[in-house]
Formats: sequence, C-alpha cells, structure tokens
Amino acid sequence: MKSLSLLPLLLLLTTCTLRAQGKRRQVYFREEFEDGDGWTKRWVQSKHQSDYGKFQLTAGKFYQDKERDKGLQTSEDAKFYALSTRFKPFSNVNETLVVQFSVKHEQGIDCGGGYVKLFPATLNQEDMHSESQYYIMFGPDICGFGNNRLQVIFYHHGKYHENNKTLKCRINKDTHLYTLIIRPNATYEVKIDNEKVTTGALEDDWDFLPPRKIKDPYARKPRKWDERLQIEDPEDKKPEDWQDSEFIPDPEAKKPDDWNEEIDGVWEGPLIPNAKYKGEWKPRIIDNPNYQGEWIHPEIDNPKYRPDPTICHYYNISVLGLDLWQVKSGSIFDNFLLTNDEEFAEEVGNKTWGLRKDVEQQWRELYEEMEKKKEAEETKMKREKERARQEDIWGLDEEDEEDNEEDSEEEPDEKSKLEDSASLGKKEARFDQKDEL
Ligand SMILES: *[C@@H]1O[C@H](CO)[C@@H](O)[C@H](O)[C@H]1NC(C)=O
Ligand SMILES: *[C@@H]1O[C@H](CO)[C@@H](O)[C@H](O)[C@H]1NC(C)=O
Ligand SMILES: *[C@@H]1O[C@H](CO)[C@@H](O)[C@H](O)[C@H]1NC(C)=O
Ligand SMILES: *[C@@H]1O[C@H](CO)[C@@H](O)[C@H](O)[C@H]1NC(C)=O
Ligand SMILES: *[C@@H]1O[C@H](CO)[C@@H](O)[C@H](O)[C@H]1NC(C)=O
Repeated sequence: MKSLSLLPLLLLLTTCTLRAQGKRRQVYFREEFEDGDGWTKRWVQSKHQSDYGKFQLTAGKFYQDKERDKGLQTSEDAKFYALSTRFKPFSNVNETLVVQFSVKHEQGIDCGGGYVKLFPATLNQEDMHSESQYYIMFGPDICGFGNNRLQVIFYHHGKYHENNKTLKCRINKDTHLYTLIIRPNATYEVKIDNEKVTTGALEDDWDFLPPRKIKDPYARKPRKWDERLQIEDPEDKKPEDWQDSEFIPDPEAKKPDDWNEEIDGVWEGPLIPNAKYKGEWKPRIIDNPNYQGEWIHPEIDNPKYRPDPTICHYYNISVLGLDLWQVKSGSIFDNFLLTNDEEFAEEVGNKTWGLRKDVEQQWRELYEEMEKKKEAEETKMKREKERARQEDIWGLDEEDEEDNEEDSEEEPDEKSKLEDSASLGKKEARFDQKDEL
C-alpha cells in the first residue's frame, strides 16, 4: 500500500539533517493525494461565492500510473476556483523556502491560472477569494496566444510586487514541475522540470526598493564633449581647377552690335552646360581624432535607497490555496511540497514528476493520435450521411445525374434549357460536397 511505503520516507524527512548548515530538514507541507478521498478532509472549499468550480481527483486522460498520478483537476469550464489547505504555521526567516508543485494542462489550456498562493495563518479559508491577502503567488498564468507568464508575485509592505524579469511557463499538455527557491541571502531561483530557468537577487528582479544607483542630478554633459564618430577632414582643400559650375557662359556668343547698354542693360551671353562640371566639392570624411565616445551619465548612490533585510521574510505561512479562473478546465495539480531543503525538493521532483514524465508523454501522443483518428472517422460518417440525404432529395444516384448533364449539353433547345437549370442546381449541390471533401 502506498500510504505504508510513504511512512518510512516521512520518518526519514523529519530526522534527516541538512549537511551544509547543520540545519534540520523541514517539510512544512507535502500533498500527493495518495489516500483516495482523504484530501476532502484536508482541503477546504471557499464559500465566498456560491458558484465556484469543482475540483475532482483524477489522473486525467493520460498518465504513468492511474493511482499515483491522481491530482486535483478543475472540472467545470468558465469558473472561478477557490480551494485551500492548512498546515502548521512556519516562517522562512533565516531559512530557505522551496515552493514546488506540478501541473498538467491536459485540456490544452486557452485562458486560466495554474498557480498556487501561500497565505498567512490568519486567512479564513471558507472565505478565501481572489482579493484575500497572500504572501506569495507562484506558477503559470496563461491567457491567449503568446501570453503565457510564469508569475512570481511577493507581498511586501502592503503591496504586491510582480517579477520584472518576464518568465515563460510551459503550455503543452504534459505535466510540468514548477519550483521556486527563496534563500536567506536574498537570492532566488526558479526551476521548471528540475532545470534552472533563472536566478538572481530578489532586490534586482522585483521593485521592492528604490534603485541602488541613480543618475547624478548634478552631472551635465560638458558643452565641448565630442560625440562625433567621423568628421570632414579639415586638411582637405578644394583643388584650384575644381569646376563646380554646372553652366558657363557660351564662349562663342557675341554681344550683338546694336546692343545699347543704356537701354538694354548689361549684356549677358547665353549659358551652356559645363563639360568639366564635377559637382559640388565636399571634403573627405575621416574618423574624428578627438572622438570622446558617448557621454555616460555618471551614477551616484541613491540617497533614497535603504537595504531591507526583511524582503521575502514571511511569518506564519500556513495555507496553500488554489485561487484561479479557468475558461477551459482540466488542469491537474499534484505533488505539492513546501520545504527548506533545495536538494530534497529536487529529489522529490525526480521521484514524482521525473518518474512519470516519459510514459505520460508516450501515452499523450498515443491518445492524441487516437483522438485524431476518431475525429477523422466521425467526419467521414457525417459526410456519408450527408451524401445519402442529398441523394434522397434528388432521388438520383451519381450515374443518372451524369447522363442528364450530357443530354442537356447536346440538345440546347427550349425544353432542355429548363432541364439545364435543374441540373445546374444539382451540380452546385455536388460542388458543395466536394468542398467538404
Ligand atoms: C535570523 O538571523 C539573524 C542573524 O543571525 C538573527 O539576528 C535573527 O534573530 C534570526 N531571526 C530569526 C527569526 O531566527
Ligand atoms: C546565496 O546562497 C546560495 C546557496 O547557498 C549560494 O549558491 C549563492 O552563491 C549565494 N549568493 C550570494 C549573493 O550570497
Ligand atoms: C520593474 O519594472 C517597473 C515598471 O516597468 C520599473 O519601474 C522598475 O524600475 C523595474 N524595477 C527593476 C528592479 O528593474
Ligand atoms: C503568528 O501567529 C501567532 C499565533 O496566532 C501569533 O501569536 C504571532 O504574533 C504571529 N506572528 C506574526 C509575526 O504575525
Ligand atoms: C535528479 O535527476 C537528475 C537527472 O536524472 C539528476 O541529474 C539529479 O542529480 C537528480 N537530483 C537528485 C537530488 O536526486
């Protein structure tokens, strides 16, 4: 029995110590739905709204092990869901916190949440709703094409802070393992399927605090700062014989003999195109020897910045909730784990998600193939039914129709013109069928 085989493991967890810091391994919460409908006693349905969607326990359409792979599945389309479970309050201060779970969007999710929320002990589970104050929200959030975020939202000093670094979640139909690690040295790591997708300092990737550095408000770019990469060569001179007039006076033109300057004004000969015209002269372009590079605004320490050692310090973490909206339902949540031991979480991931993923994927592919075949068969049957219906209407089979058409083409007299329009109708009907094919 599964619950029996889990027992030694649970004992091991509570007695094991962490090698590095000599800290005890803590497993604050673990739920793998191994005891039939026992979960209904551990999880509480919110009554804040009367029409929340129902969760059901199932391994879904494809899995590795029908019993072991059971998880909580959203079962009704276009519904809000609000279910939560309570555990002994704990704090992550001076401790690593690992939040881990798996989710499978086997319905082919179009729009919906796939995340978990961690709440303080003060949460009234029967009244949990989307506005209930939480500490951490973590997991996939999908709506529409390309909009598949992996949310990591932290509560800090009365405000929620979203991750500035955009993270993508997986949207295919397989089970994926999501892991969030928050360390006492204020760094974090996010893993999908036990592989690191990002890591960094909490302070850098969420705007908990004002930036550490700002542009010096007193610094100005010097007026003579030379940012020109290239300049005209000052040494380059226009050659003496450079012809830059497009037209010149015709040297062959002569002032008419009877030109009277007093009456006619100064005589100007006609212009002709200059055969030696070379265009406007421009000095050559050279690299600027005085180039100083782009001016960079110097930064100073931000006087408003104060390091805050309490970022992501939570007390009395005590409830894990599934507070979601789903358009197309069918997501299955499983393998919830809250611990202070990164390596242990990875190991649990290997033994749950890692164990099922390959077989599940093969099943999924097979399942999809079968679905496709079924669909093709259904279309074919529908088409045959439609054809039978059409033949009923016209009371003819294919050959009769063809004969009729040939007849009308051969004898285009008044009588067959009438028939012609009738067979035109039939022809159209046949084209319709072809389109469907
Ligand atoms: C966390 O560690 C700091 C420094 O070692 C210590 O001063 C503080 O009391 C500890 N806090 C908790 C809640 O253990
Ligand atoms: C924070 O702790 C982790 C794990 O103990 C370590 O790998 C990492 O180097 C530390 N980072 C900083 C900035 O101290
Ligand atoms: C995060 O994004 C907000 C809004 O785009 C921006 O104002 C803020 O400076 C960013 N914070 C960090 C730490 O990058
Ligand atoms: C945690 O919960 C206990 C019991 O309700 C309470 O006494 C304590 O003040 C809480 N701690 C914090 C930091 O909220
Ligand atoms: C988890 O599995 C991966 C891949 O097989 C392996 O590299 C890793 O060491 C395992 N981790 C643990 C903690 O067992």
